[in-house]
Amino acid sequence: MIITSICCLGAGYVGGPTMAMIAAKCPHIQVTVCDMNQARIDAWNSDTLPVYEPGLKEVVESARGKNLHFTTDLKPAIAAADLIFVCVGTPTKSHGIGAGRAADLRYIESAARLIAEVSEGNKIIVEKSTIPVKTATAIQAILTANSTTNATFQVLSNPEFLAEGTAVTDMENPDRILIGGEQTPEGQAALEALVSVYANWVPREKIITTNLWSSELSKLVANAFLAQRISSINSISALCEATGADVDEVARAIGFDSRIGSKFLKASVGFGGSCFQKDILNLVYLCESFNLPEPAAYWRSVVEINDWQKSRFVEKIVRTLFNTVAGKRIAILGFAFKKDTNDTRESAAIHIVRDLVAENAHVVIYDPRVPVETIHRDLLDVGIPQDIINFNVEIAADPYAAVTGAHALATLTEWDEFRTLDLPRIHGLMLKPAFVFDGRAILPADALAKHGFKAFVIGKGE
Ligand code: NAD
Ligand code: UGA
Repeated sequence: MIITSICCLGAGYVGGPTMAMIAAKCPHIQVTVCDMNQARIDAWNSDTLPVYEPGLKEVVESARGKNLHFTTDLKPAIAAADLIFVCVGTPTKSHGIGAGRAADLRYIESAARLIAEVSEGNKIIVEKSTIPVKTATAIQAILTANSTTNATFQVLSNPEFLAEGTAVTDMENPDRILIGGEQTPEGQAALEALVSVYANWVPREKIITTNLWSSELSKLVANAFLAQRISSINSISALCEATGADVDEVARAIGFDSRIGSKFLKASVGFGGSCFQKDILNLVYLCESFNLPEPAAYWRSVVEINDWQKSRFVEKIVRTLFNTVAGKRIAILGFAFKKDTNDTRESAAIHIVRDLVAENAHVVIYDPRVPVETIHRDLLDVGIPQDIINFNVEIAADPYAAVTGAHALATLTEWDEFRTLDLPRIHGLMLKPAFVFDGRAILPADALAKHGFKAFVIGKGE
């Protein structure tokens, strides 16, 4: 089976970049990315892409209009494709059975119904969204039950492992590509067809093939293990602050052990992003569904430590500022959930700002990539009323404007530009004592002390 035409449902943070990379690496394949969100598709077709990722614009521009297309016209794109990626969102369910833990599969289901409605002939359907184990069975059932033609469908699992901020390099040189398929001749033929797409740029030994359920589960487990490392080091950050140990030194010391490894051991204000919490909660729900309460509790604790890390950071600010932040100006540097992205989903900053505003603080936010509309929407979504946002939340055009007249500054995202701030200038602009709360341990501790700041650094203390 040779793939010449690919369609992707979902033009978000995964669908857009992954399909752009496939198009750029496979000029012989026509790739059409579809979404019903007109504004998103318009942005993909413009000079201002809806997703900020270093290097992404160049990749998109190298293929767009040649073999890469973005459209809201879903049906003809599905009909023309040999292979259809499903890259729609799978958020946590907000109501009903499993609310707050289980994945909401409504977009997966609507995508499957649409594919069944317009497909003819042989189609390969690829789950790229992160989904619970056994979702392939549900997709297959919907496809088969709703097809009115003689269409046949092979469902594959091909989870995506890119991280935001490094999406282009992650896709260009992935640690592995994982593809799960049915253990039948047709399933294996479909799996080989997808392997041959990636083999255009990924070495064969990095393309792992498994059964469907291993592939589906591995994605949740990979995210759970990564998040667990962050919660582990964040739990130790509190112990470091209490004892005088330095969390970065501890991370370095343990990371040299090749069995532990050095990555994902950076203490922080807590992990954010659209996936870690959602995917762990999904894993917790799966364990509960299979009557495994102990593993469920174990994985739930990774999220609980993360929530605790965010709350104790706010508590530290309030206690240090003489037990009240009411009416005080607090500069927040960084709102994105990590550097090099404009994505704020589940960003620790949202929770920290919410809790500071609840204490009647006047918060001034600066982020180099996140637009004001996104910040306002995020704060409304966590329950801050519009009039309080208007009154108590300000957006600054640069870090120096943010800190002017501030009682304290808190770094919440590790943007590189914060590492080289003009500290004497900042000290001069702030009220005294000039308090700093470095939630990412990125500011030079010696320089902070030298220039007269009263600084608290996560995992290092005061
Ligand atoms: P997103 O919300 O940015 O994009 C999803 C898009 O799907 C939206 O634009 C929505 O309009 C569209 N959509 C919904 N139903 C549709 C349909 N029937 N047809 C066409 N389009 C439809 O989400 P995302 O961040 O791209 O994540 C997508 C999936 O990938 C999730 O399951 C997520 O867990 C997983 N994932 C995300 C990342 C990441 O870095 N964001 C990394 C790996 C995996
Ligand atoms: C994560 C995984 O790294 C990807 O492999 C996966 O594909 C993706 O989730 C997904 O499924 O969506 P992402 O959330 O984009 O990627 O970014 P990460 O680099 O993993 O960072 C997540 C959060 O953890 C960020 O808030 C980051 O600041 C924080 N973090 C990361 C730390 O606090 N410490 C670290 O050592 C590493």
